[in-house]
Amino acid sequence: NQTKINELIEKRAKAKLGGGEKRIDSQHAKGKLTARERIDLLLDDDSFEEFDMFVTHRTKSFGLDKQKFLSDGVITGHGTIDGRIVYVFSQDFTVFGGSLSETYALKICKIMDMAMKIGAPVIGLNDSGGARIQEGVRSLAGYAEIFQRNIMASGVIPQISSILGPCAGGAVYSPALTDFTIMTDQTSYMFVTGPKVVETVTGEVVTTEELGGAHIHSTKSGVSHFLADNDEENILLVRKLMSYLPSNNLEDPPIIKCKDPIDRLEDALNEFIPENPNQPYDMVDVISSITDRGEFMEVHRNYARNIVVGFGRFNGRPVGIVANQPKYYAGVLDIEASRKAARFVRFCDAFNIPIVTLVDVPGFLPGTGQEYGGIILHGAKLLFAYGEATVPKVTITLRKSYGGAHDVMSCKQLRGDINYAWPTAEIAVMGAKGAVEVLEGRNINKIDDDQEKRDYISQKEDEYTKKFANPYEAAKYGFIDDVIEPRNTRFRIIRALELLANKKEVNPPKKHSNIPL
Ligand code: COA
Repeated sequence: NQTKINELIEKRAKAKLGGGEKRIDSQHAKGKLTARERIDLLLDDDSFEEFDMFVTHRTKSFGLDKQKFLSDGVITGHGTIDGRIVYVFSQDFTVFGGSLSETYALKICKIMDMAMKIGAPVIGLNDSGGARIQEGVRSLAGYAEIFQRNIMASGVIPQISSILGPCAGGAVYSPALTDFTIMTDQTSYMFVTGPKVVETVTGEVVTTEELGGAHIHSTKSGVSHFLADNDEENILLVRKLMSYLPSNNLEDPPIIKCKDPIDRLEDALNEFIPENPNQPYDMVDVISSITDRGEFMEVHRNYARNIVVGFGRFNGRPVGIVANQPKYYAGVLDIEASRKAARFVRFCDAFNIPIVTLVDVPGFLPGTGQEYGGIILHGAKLLFAYGEATVPKVTITLRKSYGGAHDVMSCKQLRGDINYAWPTAEIAVMGAKGAVEVLEGRNINKIDDDQEKRDYISQKEDEYTKKFANPYEAAKYGFIDDVIEPRNTRFRIIRALELLANKKEVNPPKKHSNIPL
């Protein structure tokens, strides 16, 4: 018996070496952790249980029958994060460059199926040279098996992708189908076609980093939701993100004990909105003055910065926060901001995370660039996402809420549950300047004297501001439930969320909606 046990111990030790010491050293020399080191960091101590360690590939051609590695380039299994079960796969670049074979794909599919059965999240740690070239179409079929599972799992269990090395060609689509992608700066990249192919086909010369580095995907494309400095930070971000999420769509997100007083008044907020309506401020300051301990996990921090989205807690209860950001482009809604916020709202709704919306929006960005890019459809995505969402929705209007953008930003008629406004709110069809231009144009043109013209415009703008640039017009019709003192915002949100904790709202049965894509 002891001989057999020794054989097992030996096999395990061999599997743990992946592609061997030399390749592990080379992985470390690139500033990257190994697949197993990453799992150790991700999961609670000693919680990892590995599956399929003894799997090897089945390919005989290209001399591969003589090159077999236990685990076949991907480590799979389950463990816990803060005591909650998660499934994980970690691609091992030291074995055939982490490339995906048929058996490798089967290993991933197995844990995805298990995760769906028990309702636990799947976390993918990606570091791979793509399809295993020697396996040809079997490898492509393997990807498609994974994609199909990603699709079925979408909205059922959270799926998170860490990108910790190459991720190219077909390999990019699994992370793209998951809920969140976290890339490590300098050592990770994602693209559908690499720089060599780009140059051959289009003549464009571009570096790997410029084409699909972590920085590009966190700022320009929005493919990556978080940017990490190194593997360690990347993986710790996964753990942190998990703390806001339920394990599946039938559970509520985990409530933690809140040490921050729920009735904490923030006097500074009463003075926070600048006198000049065109002066910007940082919306993140407002968010961190009202959430528990000022914590806010911002998603897509460097992408579409005119809107802010992310997770925070109120009285220990996780929420998704969506807020216009006056600091960038006056907080205007454009194509990227609409897409960013729409996806976030839909994620929160799928996983029972209440949405708190903070509004200060001057409208949609005008121009051919936006219209040709289809702002109508993209803006409609956000509108659709809010209108479709059945989770508790609390909206606070801080300052501007103009025109179509007012409707989009979780207004009452899109089933906003509780809509409050600060006394500084301006809820109207448009700003005073624009309104006077449209309504008074004919009268203004009749005036010859310049000074007289200016006086008339300013008088009309004042009149309009008094009449419409306030929260009371909307409150008069019940579109705003109450006008609140800014310093009470934290307390009022907490009370609203407690009130709505058992909210039940159901959409009509259908195969699926047809959100404007
Ligand atoms: N299939 C099979 N083996 C692969 C592979 C693949 N797709 N990608 C990498 N490998 C192997 C390499 O042959 C090498 O093996 P060795 O250690 O026995 O020499 C090992 O993985 C490491 O690859 P290497 O090229 O030395 O690493 P690198 O860090 O210099 O480059 C890549 C990494 C991913 C850029 C490069 O390997 C590459 O371009 N791979 C092919 C990518 C591709 O086109 N995939 C198909 C798209 S779906």
